[in-house]
Amino acid sequence: MKTRITELFGIQHPVIQGGMHWVGFAEMAAAVSNAGGLGIITALTQPTPEDLAKEIAKCNEMTDKPFGVNLTFLPGFKEPPYPEYIEAIIGGGVTIVETAGRSPEKYLPALKEGGIKVIHKCTSVRHSLKAERIGCDAVSVDGFECGGHPGEDDIPNYVLLPRAAEEIKIPFVASGGVGTASQLAAALALGADGVNMGTRFIATKEAPVHQNVKDALVKASELDTTLIMRSLRNTERVMKNAAVDTILEVEREKGSDLNIMDIVEQVGGVYPKIMQEGDMDAGAWSTGMVCGLIHDIPTCKELVERMVTGAEEIIQSRLEAMVS
Ligand SMILES: Cc1cc2nc3c(=O)[nH]c(=O)nc-3n(C[C@H](O)[C@H](O)[C@H](O)COP(=O)(O)O)c2cc1C
Repeated sequence: MKTRITELFGIQHPVIQGGMHWVGFAEMAAAVSNAGGLGIITALTQPTPEDLAKEIAKCNEMTDKPFGVNLTFLPGFKEPPYPEYIEAIIGGGVTIVETAGRSPEKYLPALKEGGIKVIHKCTSVRHSLKAERIGCDAVSVDGFECGGHPGEDDIPNYVLLPRAAEEIKIPFVASGGVGTASQLAAALALGADGVNMGTRFIATKEAPVHQNVKDALVKASELDTTLIMRSLRNTERVMKNAAVDTILEVEREKGSDLNIMDIVEQVGGVYPKIMQEGDMDAGAWSTGMVCGLIHDIPTCKELVERMVTGAEEIIQSRLEAMVS
């Protein structure tokens, strides 16, 4: 498949692996890039810019294909040293950055001077238009189904993607809820130039997470995610578990008076316990509704090839037959 996204990033298949906290290590990014997609290392999982530089060097050893780095600008307890992380990215020879959270405007000059192509993740058409206006090269349009932070508009991709196609001129990929060949074909039909996946890539052989996490995704249905932190305007879609039950109870009690400190035990620093130790009730972890479509744990190559081949088959046989 040749789309504006495969051309922009120099990749074989229009499939991107979105940045994921405590999942987006070199092993994950290299496996996706070696499969012909675009793998992405998550910068802020690395405690310091020096650690990110080492992770990038490791990934460079594991693949000769392009890979990117995710820089997330979320409300945090302490602002990370973004300029130094950007230096590590540029110094490591990476040429693609996925930004997310707040607008990347402040850091775009530094990224652009370093020869970086920027794809910004947006949950609305207005944020996508702003990303286009400030000079991003592409956007990832993240629908309400997505794992992680879907924003506050609650527009699912069946409406969000064609709305984006009406207004955005730069290339965009469909993000959120994607995991199958038919969804790749549908995303292209709706105007996207490819797809971005998070949750689906966690249930792969190479994903550097505990087997319990992969098994939980295979076991879960599309009914097993829920939204937390709505009243903080930091909504996150997560897998339902004991910790999330506690969060929802506290949220019901506190209502609009909720403070992040009320749930810090369930959301702060819990990822290593879940992703590495496999303690599935240790806290809230981002999961998309697509878990209902995850039934196996393939290699990244098997997954990407299955999606691309299947989408081609749908376009060339099923859809073609309907119009001929
Ligand atoms: C476990 C997990 C952690 C994530 N961490 C981040 C992150 O640190 N930064 C970010 O921009 N997006 C993060 N995301 C969002 C993904 O990059 C991607 O946009 C999202 O997963 C797409 O929706 P899907 O899960 O339905 O495919 C995370 C998603 C998951 C599932």
